[in-house]
Parts: sequence; structure tokens; C-alpha cells
Amino acid sequence: MLPNHSYVEGVVDESLRNLIYPIDWPEIVDYVGLPAVLKPHWGGGWKDVTVVYSLEELWAAYNRSYTTTMILQEYIAWEHYVRCICIGQERIMPIRYNPHAPFHERYVVDHEHLNPELGTRILHDARLINRAMGYDMNTVEFAIRDGIPYAIDFMNTAPDFDPVSLPPIYFDWVVRQMADLVIARAHAHGAPPEAHWRAMMDTLPPAFGRNGA
Ligand SMILES: Nc1ncnc2c1ncn2[C@@H]1O[C@H](COP(=O)(O)OP(=O)(O)OP(=O)(O)O)[C@@H](O)[C@H]1O
Ligand SMILES: [Mg+2]
Repeated sequence: MLPNHSYVEGVVDESLRNLIYPIDWPEIVDYVGLPAVLKPHWGGGWKDVTVVYSLEELWAAYNRSYTTTMILQEYIAWEHYVRCICIGQERIMPIRYNPHAPFHERYVVDHEHLNPELGTRILHDARLINRAMGYDMNTVEFAIRDGIPYAIDFMNTAPDFDPVSLPPIYFDWVVRQMADLVIARAHAHGAPPEAHWRAMMDTLPPAFGRNGA
């Protein structure tokens, strides 16, 4: 996660006192490696996704980002790509995905594209991400290199669930999962238990005096 290039009005030097200026670009590039992918921390539709091969290319792309918070990722030269549709944090459908195909051909119907070890790891990691984010609707994308899945896009809170993009077999699955989830939540009076304010308070140690001291 990089500091913004520019900030919206009202964010002043004092607001940014936890950041170091100037940015240590060589250290960042040493850590991430090249090529790298610069992209918005919360994006969609490949908007402002740039593969950079040098510091100069990184700066050029960064200078175009203005107030958008950007992330810099290691470029994963993947042999396999999986997009997981995630409903209710735990219900995961790992689908073979071709990001370079036209929209209606990206999801590939293939029930045998994962070996047991990779499938188990992907399910585990997707659930972990959803739980950490608290996302009940999400897609998590893994680029797989040398058999290792790297989560490269995992904050899609408004995923494309259009029947034009999703083959019927997956569209039916997602509608069924979402229906089951909202019906279960409705029966449980709406809010998931962990969102209840009392449950949050109960996780704290006892408070003494006015300031809890
Ligand atoms: N770290 C990375 N390594 C290799 N390729 C990447 C990486 N990050 C992104 N890409 C490529 O760029 C594409 C778009 O990136 P990403 O999914 O993060 O952007 P997006 O705007 O969320 O796109 P979408 O809405 O299609 O998911 C990916 O499908 C992948 O092909
Ligand atoms: Mg993506």
C-alpha cells in the first residue's frame, strides 16, 4: 500500500505525520521486485492497472494516480488463474478463470481444474480473507505460480454476477447461496451475531473509573 500521490482537501501535513517523505522508492521496489503491478487498492474492470518494469515506469504511472490510493504487487507470471465466488464468507466456489478472454468467456466450466492440495489451500485462504474483511459477498482471485496461489484481487464487494458473464451453472449456484444466506439471516433477526454492539463490549476487559483506568 503506497502513500497517495495527492490528497483530498482537508488532509494536511499534520494528518500525514505517520508517513515518511520522500518515499523510499528503491527500497519499495527491492521489496516487491520487478516487474510489478501498480493498481488501485479498490478497483474494478482493470481500471488503472499497470505493469511496470522500471522505477521510471512506476513513477510515471504513480504520477497519474492523483488521489487514488494505490497498491504495488509483485507480478505473478501465473500458469493457472482461479476466481472464487464467495457468499456468506464461507461458501466458496473456486472457478477456473481466463482474465484475458472477453467477459462472457472468462469463467470456464471445469470441475477438475484443481488438485486436492491446491483446492484445499485456495478454499482456506479465501475464507481467511473474507473473515478478516467481514465480506459476505466477494470474489477472490488467485494467480497460481509454481503451484502456489497468490491472492492478487480480493476486495470485490460488488462483484459482477451478471448472467451474461457467469455461465448458468455458476449463476444458479450464486443465486441459491445468496438466497439461502439472506433467508438464514432474516430468521436470525437480521444482524450476524458478531455485529451486535453488546458482543463487542463483552470482548473488552472490565472498565474501572471514568477513563477505564
Ligand atoms: N500481481 C499481479 N500479477 C500478475 N498479474 C496481475 C497482477 N495483478 C493483476 N494482474 C492482472 O491484471 C488483471 C486485472 O487486475 P485486477 O483483477 O487486480 O484488477 P480489477 O480492476 O479488479 O479487474 P477485474 O474487475 O477484472 O477483477 C488480473 O486479472 C490479472 O490478469
Ligand atoms: Mg480482478
